[in-house]
Amino acid sequence: MIITIDGPAAAGKGTISALLSKKYHLVSFDTGMLYRAVGLQMVLTGMEITNVEAATAIAQKLTFAQMIELSQHPDFRSDVGGQAASIVSSYQPVRQALLEMQRNFAKNPTFADGTPAAGVVYDGRDTGTVVCPNADLKIFLIADVEVRAQRRHKEFLEKGIQKSYEKVLADMKERDERDKNRSSAPMKPADDAVIIDCSTLSVDDLMKIIMPLVEQKLSA
Ligand code: DC
Repeated sequence: MIITIDGPAAAGKGTISALLSKKYHLVSFDTGMLYRAVGLQMVLTGMEITNVEAATAIAQKLTFAQMIELSQHPDFRSDVGGQAASIVSSYQPVRQALLEMQRNFAKNPTFADGTPAAGVVYDGRDTGTVVCPNADLKIFLIADVEVRAQRRHKEFLEKGIQKSYEKVLADMKERDERDKNRSSAPMKPADDAVIIDCSTLSVDDLMKIIMPLVEQKLSA
């Protein structure tokens, strides 16, 4: 079973992906981590973020182990990491370099301890359109940008990161525009994706919509 969950930042993809993987014994793959790892390495090595060749070379050499190690860095999930990821993800050769890694993951899905999983839940921006065009179920989550910025602002406060709501909102709008309008694999729903606006839905409500869709596929 392959499920893809795409959509803009802070739409709830990670939360839903974690709940689905637990319920259906699937391993989740947060594909944004790959782009964050490349973006953060650019920042940490002092490369100009506009240097496509350098970003491509980093992407070509990236391993899962390196990505996990980089994910411990405080800027991996910060805006520094998010904006750098969004910029390097607009480079076609970077996307190409990371594609096989993402596709291969579904060939023999296993949990971190090596036990086999019943499939994969991918989350990202292009997992339903480019990474797994043959996925069993494709979800595209949307939510008003103000709602998403409020969620992100709350997360920042909980982590002790001081950033005004206005700045979170402005940065989120900038990232949405870049992710939507880049020429290579822009963020958009696949033609066969189920689009769900979760601006006013709780996580429980959202799961009540998605679980029957998964179960329908499992019994098909
Ligand atoms: O989901 P995230 O915020 O961790 O993603 C960081 C950036 O990576 C996002 O702004 C766009 C990019 N990305 C992408 O282009 N394609 C994906 N499948 C996942 C993320």
